[in-house]
Amino acid sequence: MKKNRRKRDSNETIAQRDLSVIWHPCTQMKDHEKLPMIAIKKARGPYLYDFDGNRYIDAISSWWVNLFGHANEKINKAVKSQLDRLEHVLLAGFTHEPALRLAEKLVELTPKGLERVFFADNGSSAVEVALKMSYHYHRNLGKERELFLSLSNSYHGETIGALSVGDVGLYKETYEPLLIKNIQTPVPEDESQEATKKALYALEKILARDGKRISAMIVEPLVQGAGGMHIYSADYLKEARKMTESYGIHLIADEIMTGFGRTGTMFACEQADIVPDFMTLSKGLTGGYMPLSTVMMTEDIYSAFYCDYSQRGKSFLHSHSYTGNPLACSAALATLEIFEKENILEKNRKKSAYIYEKLKKFRKLENVEKIRNIGMIAAVELSGYSADKRVGLEVYKYALRKGVLLRPLGNVIYFMPPYIIKRKEIDKMMDTAYRAIERLTKK
Ligand SMILES: Cc1ncc(COP(=O)(O)O)c(C=O)c1O
Repeated sequence: MKKNRRKRDSNETIAQRDLSVIWHPCTQMKDHEKLPMIAIKKARGPYLYDFDGNRYIDAISSWWVNLFGHANEKINKAVKSQLDRLEHVLLAGFTHEPALRLAEKLVELTPKGLERVFFADNGSSAVEVALKMSYHYHRNLGKERELFLSLSNSYHGETIGALSVGDVGLYKETYEPLLIKNIQTPVPEDESQEATKKALYALEKILARDGKRISAMIVEPLVQGAGGMHIYSADYLKEARKMTESYGIHLIADEIMTGFGRTGTMFACEQADIVPDFMTLSKGLTGGYMPLSTVMMTEDIYSAFYCDYSQRGKSFLHSHSYTGNPLACSAALATLEIFEKENILEKNRKKSAYIYEKLKKFRKLENVEKIRNIGMIAAVELSGYSADKRVGLEVYKYALRKGVLLRPLGNVIYFMPPYIIKRKEIDKMMDTAYRAIERLTKK
């Protein structure tokens, strides 16, 4: 008698079921009438494997989170061992070893002066916490500062507060009436001294007008990620820090993307030699394993909230159920241990030099306008295509067919691979992108 076997799962069968129930992030779902959904079955090192047996180099570290490859042995071991001890407990009135050890480690690693750690569970939430804390700090000191300041072209997440301080129209425009008050000052157009000076001049004018009404300036230090891997100089950061400080404005360094070695130093702020009042961390913090974020802050900020419970309105009451989850903290501790024991920043320097060498070749292509690189980030900006041409999508589709996951930001094709990527994988990743861009010129 024939057994009534279930059809073997394939990308197509999984995708069919998926599309009848899941609403995906950052996606116009109608695109999937034509664009196949890739169903990932497993992953190891820099590779993702789908249900049809194809493998893809994860050239964007799964949205910039994965630092040491998928199914990393050391992180796996740490999470498994934590799982048998404590999976979760609330962090109000209770604590646990992984959160404590992680907080101690982060205080040690981040610039001196950031001495307190507040846990949350994703990047946008960390940004919300920093914005609320900054505003609340001033209020506790009897000052009403209802404005925030951020850079043009910035991205800080997509919850309402984080969207308000961001400047990527695609995500923000629709929600304009709901947003909190924020002013934007122009980001330097490039890394040159001239661009730096021009942007500082604009900042000076804004501060002279509104400086006393601004709680905090928030920046993605050195690189604006979602804004197209736009790089600006450390000098700008250094000067902006001095200028805003003189108005009593906090600096929030949003290192959610730049943190943990991405720009060549452990934190991008180190390159400008500045200590911000707040630093937000997430993404690479857990090596790409689990959602977790932290807001680092100075003792001065912490002290402004430390008072008797009866002083109503002074306590910082912000909570997420999964705040400081022990499994996520154990993944973070294992990630930081890899940095410590394996000389990662030094090894990355050699890899990024190799990536940069290969990047130079893209200049030859007639549709390439600019190339940019810093640390383990490299980007190629195309010229002459309007947004509705969606050339990024063409590059994405071609690269997938060739076994590379690239996810361009508009006309910017970028590489942000896991740090364990090897030379031959770098070759494949970049040669594939080169051919994808070259093909566009022939269409
Ligand atoms: C600089 C920066 N801040 C905040 C966020 C938001 O983080 P999440 O996606 O975890 O909410 C991102 C995400 O890309 C980011 O790049």
